[in-house]
Amino acid sequence: MKVAVIGTGYVGLVTGTCFADMGNDVWCIDIDEKKIENLKKGILPIYEPGLEELVKRNYNEGRLRFLTSIKEGIEKALFIFIAVGTPSDEDGSADLKHVLSVASEIGKNLNNYKIVINKSTVPVGTAEKVRGTIKGELDIRDAQAIEFDVVSNPEFLKEGNAIEDFMRPDRIIIGTDNVRTSELMNELYSPFFRREDKIIMMDIPSAELTKYAANAMLATRISFMNELAHLCELTKADIHNVRRGIGSDSRIGKDFLYAGIGYGGSCFPKDVRALIRTSKEYGHELKILQSVEEVNKQQRLKFLDKVIKYMGKDLKGITFAVWGLSFKPQTDDMREAPAIDIINGLRDLGAKFKAYDPIAIENTKKILGNKAIEYLNQYYDALKDADALLLLTEWHHFREPDFDKMKDLMKRPVIFDGRNQYEPRKMRERGFEYFSVGRGV
Ligand SMILES: NC(=O)c1ccc[n+]([C@@H]2O[C@H](COP(=O)([O-])OP(=O)(O)OC[C@H]3O[C@@H](n4cnc5c(N)ncnc54)[C@H](O)[C@@H]3O)[C@@H](O)[C@H]2O)c1
Repeated sequence: MKVAVIGTGYVGLVTGTCFADMGNDVWCIDIDEKKIENLKKGILPIYEPGLEELVKRNYNEGRLRFLTSIKEGIEKALFIFIAVGTPSDEDGSADLKHVLSVASEIGKNLNNYKIVINKSTVPVGTAEKVRGTIKGELDIRDAQAIEFDVVSNPEFLKEGNAIEDFMRPDRIIIGTDNVRTSELMNELYSPFFRREDKIIMMDIPSAELTKYAANAMLATRISFMNELAHLCELTKADIHNVRRGIGSDSRIGKDFLYAGIGYGGSCFPKDVRALIRTSKEYGHELKILQSVEEVNKQQRLKFLDKVIKYMGKDLKGITFAVWGLSFKPQTDDMREAPAIDIINGLRDLGAKFKAYDPIAIENTKKILGNKAIEYLNQYYDALKDADALLLLTEWHHFREPDFDKMKDLMKRPVIFDGRNQYEPRKMRERGFEYFSVGRGV
């Protein structure tokens, strides 16, 4: 089948590549000329495990093409995916300027029947706006006879596991209002669920809302555990045990129950804000989600307070080692990463940093710059003469480090662990001053 994907970021590149890998003809389109030129040379704009090899193979075998022209990209395709960014606007709503500008380009260049699919995370009602925008362009061209359908197909992949999530999805949500598109979408996705039907068909508004509801629910679990973690610190309970206790209940489940320094990334924060905003527009207040957002903001500040309480308010002459910068492991994505606020907060008090991350250093430099931060490619090097370690992303290789070596390298054996990677009792036995989240101060 012939597929165009507009927007070649985390979602668009994975979507296009996975469809190509199933034998489809795919055109991946982006306005960023440099990105497209690099992709043609096999240089990827993002880190995602397994993606590079898949891109190169499908590109070399001619199923995957990269280009900047929407016109050229959509001419032969039947399916046109919109996978551009939907960042937060100033008021928290999802900014639809990229989505609607793409819709307008589609309308200007539509040459025959197409299915236009919203894969970007967009508020309920956006499919109608996309439909209206395309129709408006067809009217201008006096080309009303050209038919098209609009479908909502939100994406649920996780950065760091995106290929696996796309190739073996838990579910594929398709919001459609007619049989023709539901059958064609089913055919396009059928290679991804050979054993068990994973498609959940529904009306378009429900599909649009489902994506936000999923992210909001996961964010809620995280903020709930972070609030409880605070109570654990006050009562000398251990959030680790509470998590084990409640996660074993099949009605609750084990996932997304980890206390820490709060959620970040390109999805949860903006999607929670956008859902709150959408609801307000309809005159309904989402009180739980407002608290989820507030707790998440506070969580970073509480961690900062913990550091300041121990290290003091004047941090001139203090050097922190930082292990991990990205908002979660297995990604180089720094969007709304807790590390940004934590480093900025301590830097304002005069601190210096030796920061390590296996892949997010380049993206961190774009946000935090070089002032007072030395970036290192080896995590033990970051500890040399450090007054304390801040563990901010739970990369696997931090789980079992050489603690004796750490102590030898550091000026003081102090660890502020924002990701609860170690056992507090053992850390005390090893001779560390160890601060974690919700496991006793
Ligand atoms: N990143 C994730 O983990 C994830 C998961 C699920 C859903 N989503 C959603 O998917 C959407 C895309 O997210 P992303 O992380 O891939 O974004 P991204 O910022 O990584 O990529 C967006 C791409 O779109 C391109 N673009 C912007 N305007 C364009 C235009 N007019 N024509 C062509 N290309 C254009 C940009 O140059 C960029 O390469 C968002 O709505 C996001 O919420 C993201």
